[in-house]
Order: sequence, then structure tokens, then C-alpha cells
Amino acid sequence: MTKALMARLDRLLANLGYGSRKDVQALVASGKVALDGKILKDSGARIAVDAALPERMTIRGAAVDPPAPLVLLMHKPLGVTCSHKEDGEKIYDLLPRRWRLRDPGLSTVGRLDKDTSGLILITDDGDFLHRVISPKRHVPKTYLTTLDRALKGSEGEVFAAGTLMLEGEEKPLLPAQLDVVDGKTARLTITEGRYHQVRRMFAAVGNHVVTLHRERIGGLTLPADLEPGRYRILPANEAEAVFDV
Ligand code: URA
Repeated sequence: MTKALMARLDRLLANLGYGSRKDVQALVASGKVALDGKILKDSGARIAVDAALPERMTIRGAAVDPPAPLVLLMHKPLGVTCSHKEDGEKIYDLLPRRWRLRDPGLSTVGRLDKDTSGLILITDDGDFLHRVISPKRHVPKTYLTTLDRALKGSEGEVFAAGTLMLEGEEKPLLPAQLDVVDGKTARLTITEGRYHQVRRMFAAVGNHVVTLHRERIGGLTLPADLEPGRYRILPANEAEAVFDV
């Protein structure tokens, strides 16, 4: 359970995207906000904020959005970008609209290419994000990949050697593990997050990635019943399982 922090009601709701401070003051004054079943009338009231808040507070009769810190586990579909800026459909478009106005804002933990599907974490917790992507932690990520050409048989050794240089880079890749599924399908586990790393690794051994899907980050696996585009809120203890490897 996260430690409860105290926050002014109007600031809390504005930071959750319910409107400007003025908007939420009007919302409170109109009796639309309740805590433990009692209407709150004072928008300056100090509220204990923890992960259980949605079980206690309602806005217009609906549970309040989960407060920060928030970690989401999403099944990223193909065709959406992890960027806030690029054109086209964004992963953030798959979240409730109001969440775009949250402060702190939500960001993906690292990125998947537009043409990659699978497990992605989204958070407003900068400390958590940096711990996951820190190059010092070597959190393993497993990708299921289908290839254009049949595997030669030597790729596993090349990837495991820790000497493979990607084009335009100055440092060799850390050792990676290849598990062959069949002639043109394999799982690759890497512990870095270099730009287009998996695609470039297969290009370096003369192949071409046709489909790429991330199945696992550290101790977190994409649940089989989580459809593309859907997400789950991870309680803090479950999110920390990303470091269990
Ligand atoms: N490697 C890639 O090439 N693309 C991804 O999206 C992730 C890892």
C-alpha cells in the first residue's frame, strides 16, 4: 500500500484532469464530489491521497480516477506510436481522454516501434520509469519475432557473444539470448534498449524482422487475456515485479 500524502481537494482534482482549479471548485460547490459517501463542500479541504482513493471518492457518482503514482501495463497494438509528438494514432489515445490533462503526465517506459506490438508500461512515476530503463539495471526484455528468412543456426552464438556491433555505434551489444521456436520464429531476450535494437540485430546477421511482439519485461509477462489496446492498472507491489528476474 502506498503512503497517503495530503493534498488540497481542488489541486488534486485539477491534477487528475477534471478541469482547471476554477472548474473543480465549481464542481465541488455543486455537490458532485463525495468522500466516504459524504458530499464535500470545501474545495480547500485536505485529502489523504493513496491508491485506495477511487474506492472512497466519487465524482458525479463515478469512482475518482486513480491518483499518482500510476503504473499501467498495456498490450500495445500495431500501428500506434509511443510518442507524444508524432502524427497519427498515439498510445495515449487509448487511455481515457481526461488522463491527457494529468499532472504529472503519463509516459511510456521506453518505447516500442509503431510496427511492434506487445507489453508496454506507462507511468507518471519518473523514479519508477528511470529505474526500469536504467542501463545499470539490465532489465531483460523478451521479444517474439518472425523473420523473413530461415535462421542459419549461428545467430544464437553471435548474439550471445557480447561483441556484435550495430551499424553506426561505437560500443558492442551486451550478450543477448536467442531461443529458436522454429525455422523463421525465435524469441530474443535483450538487456539494453538501443534504437530499433531487435530489428537491427537481425539485420546484422543478414535477416529481416517481419513481426515483432514484446512478451516480457523483467518479471512482468503480457497476460494472455489482455487484448491489444487494453491495459491494467498495476498495484505498486505488482509493478515492482518488473525487477524480479
Ligand atoms: N527492438 C526493435 O527493433 N523495435 C522495438 O520496438 C523494440 C525493440
